[in-house]
Amino acid sequence: MKLLILNGPNLNMLGIREPGIYGVETYQTLVEKIERHAKELGVEVRCAQTNHEGVLVDEIQAAYGVMDGIVINPGAYTHTSIAILDAVKAVGIPTVEVHISAVEKREDFRQVSYIRAACVATITGHGTDGYLEAMELLVARLGGEEAAR
Ligand code: DQA
Repeated sequence: MKLLILNGPNLNMLGIREPGIYGVETYQTLVEKIERHAKELGVEVRCAQTNHEGVLVDEIQAAYGVMDGIVINPGAYTHTSIAILDAVKAVGIPTVEVHISAVEKREDFRQVSYIRAACVATITGHGTDGYLEAMELLVARLGGEEAAR
């Protein structure tokens, strides 16, 4: 089983950006944490981060036929990007939306998520552990699908 873990704009600034909201852990530490958890779960992961909307779309399209699940934190593109929503719909890969912060308790403009309509689940406000929970959720779901085949 292969999972794509995608992070959008400013998530490379973890540890520096607004630590009161996003914590002190760096992006590199997050990647290491994800890779360690992938080993524990017995899955392969590809971690990617970009500040560019089109590159997120490219990554999602490239996952078609290659990846079994996607964990995505689109950052601010969550609240603006129909292109990312369409990409997830186009590939039809089970996708979990993750936010480090509790977006539902923040500004009004963070209350809209375009991508949510194409996701099997959304995890918010669990810090970086949310990524690990999303991986577990996909493994449970995809494992179940495999067993049913
Ligand atoms: C975020 C929440 C978004 O509103 C924000 O633009 C981010 C990070 C989160 O992980 O909590 O960049 O997706």
